[in-house]
Formats: sequence, structure tokens, C-alpha cells
Amino acid sequence: MPKGFVIAIDGPAAAGKGTISPLLAKKLNGFYLYTGAMYRCLALLCIEKGISTKDKESIIKILPGFEINFSDGEVFLNGKEVAERIKKEDVAMGSSDVATIKEVREAMVIKQKSMAEEIIENGKPVIAEGRDTATRVFPNADLKIFLTAKAEVRAKRRVIQIEEGGDKTEFENVLKDVKLRDSQDTNRETDPLVKTPGDYGYIVLDNSSMSEEETVDKIISLAKQKALI
Ligand code: C5P
Repeated sequence: MPKGFVIAIDGPAAAGKGTISPLLAKKLNGFYLYTGAMYRCLALLCIEKGISTKDKESIIKILPGFEINFSDGEVFLNGKEVAERIKKEDVAMGSSDVATIKEVREAMVIKQKSMAEEIIENGKPVIAEGRDTATRVFPNADLKIFLTAKAEVRAKRRVIQIEEGGDKTEFENVLKDVKLRDSQDTNRETDPLVKTPGDYGYIVLDNSSMSEEETVDKIISLAKQKALI
């Protein structure tokens, strides 16, 4: 049986992780573990229940009734398919709030590890994507990529995604949200997005002027260099 392995891809908001990682998983016949979806789903549950995404006590109380499953690009929150809904900006900002809560992170990491274990045991690669997948979730990941791009480039890509989803937005507002999320994600106490990725074993990949295909090819060549494939 082939050996399972983990490629961990972390980086700031809208760096292209959510596009590159599933493409990579497809090419490698692996499992795409979108950890951000878990924080997004919890934020959505808060919104639906009318709980503030900053209300730590109430959020900890709803954690036991929070169930998330992935299947072929679909995301199920307590049995309901929410893949499109969790892409919206209200959920994005709320996810960054709930992700600052230590108890939330602990519960998510347990779930992420157990999902991955099953895949690896079956000899398949896991392509994990998020902010702490190479530091907290899979510190022994076989390949650690820090995918980034200039904030303006990321905001521009995000505007295109939002407009493709049928919503209207302003570049300046999106840039502000992207920078706010970056600041919240890098400055939180528990498992922040690291500021000096090179010190944590990441290979830094700035894809500001790379196409999606070039970025995927680059990661595949790095996986080959590590003899993973
Ligand atoms: O990656 P994505 O933008 O979907 O993640 C949404 C939010 O979830 C991030 O802004 C971040 O606050 C949080 N997150 C996290 N740790 C992860 C993945 C996402 O804190 N591993």
C-alpha cells in the first residue's frame, strides 16, 4: 500500500490556499482538509443562533452540538450543506473572531487530527490548509508551505470571488477586512499564524505574480524533491 503523507499549507487570508489546495489534492488523489471551513461553520452557527461571534461563554456552550463533515467539495454543518454560505464576508469575519477562542481551537484540532489519521492509514495524502496546520495540527507534516501574496493582490482576488458569487463590494472595504483578519490571526494568543514562517520549517511561496497552475506545479515539484511522490 502507498504511504500516506501530509502537506500542510498555511498563510494569510485570500492567499489562494482555498484554490490551490483542492487542485493539489485532486492531482495527488488525496484528501483536502479545509480547516478554515470548521471555524467558518462555527461562525455561521453563531449567526444563525443570534450569538455574537465574540461571545466566548455562549460559543463554548454550543460546541458540543457542532457537527461538521466534508464530502467532495461539499461542507455539511449539522447535516445541512453550507459550502456557498460560508464563503460570505459576514462568516469570514466571524470565523476570525471564534478562532481566537482557545477552547474552540482545541476542539477543532482534535477533529482535524482524527479526520487525517483515517486518510493516512488508508495510504492517501492529506492536503491540510489553514493557519496552524503546520505548527499545531501536524507539526510533523512532510511538507510545510507558507502560501502568501501582497495584501492588495489578495484583496483584488477576493473582490473577484465575491463578485462571481453575485454580490457587490468595494476594493477598499475588502482590503480593510483582509488586513483586519491578518492582524487578528497573527496576533491572537493561541496558535497564531506565524510572522516568521522560515523559523517554523515552512517553505515560503509568494504567489503574487504566479498563476494557479504555476503555484500547484511548484508545490508538486517541492513534494518530488522531498521524495513524497
Ligand atoms: O482560511 P479561511 O479564510 O477560510 O479561514 C477562516 C478563518 O478561520 C481565518 O481568518 C482564521 O481566523 C481561522 N482559521 C484558523 N486556523 C485555521 C484555519 C482558519 O484560525 N487552521
